[in-house]
Amino acid sequence: MPGVVVVGAQWGDEGKGKVTDLLAEGADVVIRFQGGNNAGHTIVRDDEVFKFHLIPSGILYPGKLSVIGNGVVVDPRVLLEELDGLRRRGISTRGLRISANAHLIMPYHLLLDQGSEARLGKLQIGTTRRGIGPAYADKAARLGIRVQDLLDEKILRKKIYAAMEPKRQLLRPWAKDPQLDLHTMTEEYAQYGHRLEPHITDTARLVWDALDRERLVIFEGAQGTLLDIDHGTYPFVTSSNPVAGAACVGAGVGPRDIDEVWGIAKAYSTRVGSGPFPSELDDELGERMRVAGGEFGTTTGRPRRCGWIDLVALKYAARINGLTGLVVTKLDVLTGIDPIGAAVRYLGPEGASFDEFPYHQSILHRATADIEEVPGWHENITQARSLDDLPQAARDYLDYVSEFVGVPVVCIGVGPGRDQVIWTEAGKRFEPVAAT
Ligand code: IMP
Repeated sequence: MPGVVVVGAQWGDEGKGKVTDLLAEGADVVIRFQGGNNAGHTIVRDDEVFKFHLIPSGILYPGKLSVIGNGVVVDPRVLLEELDGLRRRGISTRGLRISANAHLIMPYHLLLDQGSEARLGKLQIGTTRRGIGPAYADKAARLGIRVQDLLDEKILRKKIYAAMEPKRQLLRPWAKDPQLDLHTMTEEYAQYGHRLEPHITDTARLVWDALDRERLVIFEGAQGTLLDIDHGTYPFVTSSNPVAGAACVGAGVGPRDIDEVWGIAKAYSTRVGSGPFPSELDDELGERMRVAGGEFGTTTGRPRRCGWIDLVALKYAARINGLTGLVVTKLDVLTGIDPIGAAVRYLGPEGASFDEFPYHQSILHRATADIEEVPGWHENITQARSLDDLPQAARDYLDYVSEFVGVPVVCIGVGPGRDQVIWTEAGKRFEPVAAT
């Protein structure tokens, strides 16, 4: 089982960071394959809270490689801040590797992201305004600046000039902004290159080496399946592919290198930003979930929209990612909510009913969820460490979700702590040794 992909099965923020952190203990390499610092992972370790936006979770383990793959877009300012923060807390960053082929987020990307959202007005996507979309757009337009360009100031200057030139019109409101000055920007980024140089390498090769030695490699996804630019709720999506297939492209391996694909899903649903969310609870119950689950963005602090688990969307995520295991996180947040709802089909405006996730945006945008109710539980489950410790209603809920989606539950989260998890029979072989 050397290659395990961890992906979000909903709209992001499912708790992938904690799962990756647990799996990382037995791994040699953790590699991120898409997205950028629009992501936010919170890891609680011995009552210490770590928040990462770019650095893969594996960095907390000495002796492991924590890799930023070629599919990621890197804001070097953010990366250096994270590195400095870790060093201040006495954590070695020696294991960090950055793909020379990863693309960079430049100051103009941040401004273009802001500008684009402002122009869209009411139609805005609700991006994290971290410059993700414009950076991927430049990559596709072959105007991107890559990490390797940081190491040659002459090339860097030429490429920045070529990338900014066609954007002159759009950047006009910031024409006098000193950070957009070609000379200043080149100098600044060359400095970043200087600092990052020891970490820059051909990362695909590192992954191949680990796989060839039968070592465990974790491919860490960011965001979630329904934010995928091809398979999500376009245009209310991110600009990369958070689905499992992208692990191959964004890390530089073939499909046969992947052995397991774990989808992470909360026991309910959340979404940040605009776009369809059929099982949303825009009421007191939604507010209760938001407070109980601490549903405020790690990256932007925005309150997350909350709702029932969406089994139509989850089944779709299971198929599109080829899930072999389902991790259900934050089960404890549902304690005391009785009955619990689950979206089992979508209903269209003219009495139409959809069992499958609809591909057409007009259907999806107008769909409401048909909610099935199942019994809830009232016992505190935060100390449960095996399925037997859970109340019957909680076990029945997990079976109900797993059967609907057609994927075995491998692990369950019952609180924010690292030890607050339950490993099922199906997931047991991945349980970190230290926790047993
Ligand atoms: P962008 O990725 O910043 O361009 O934002 C596009 C959409 O994806 C917005 O709705 C964001 O709220 C959402 N998004 C991006 N990253 C995350 C994440 O890590 N978790 C949840 N939503 C995200």
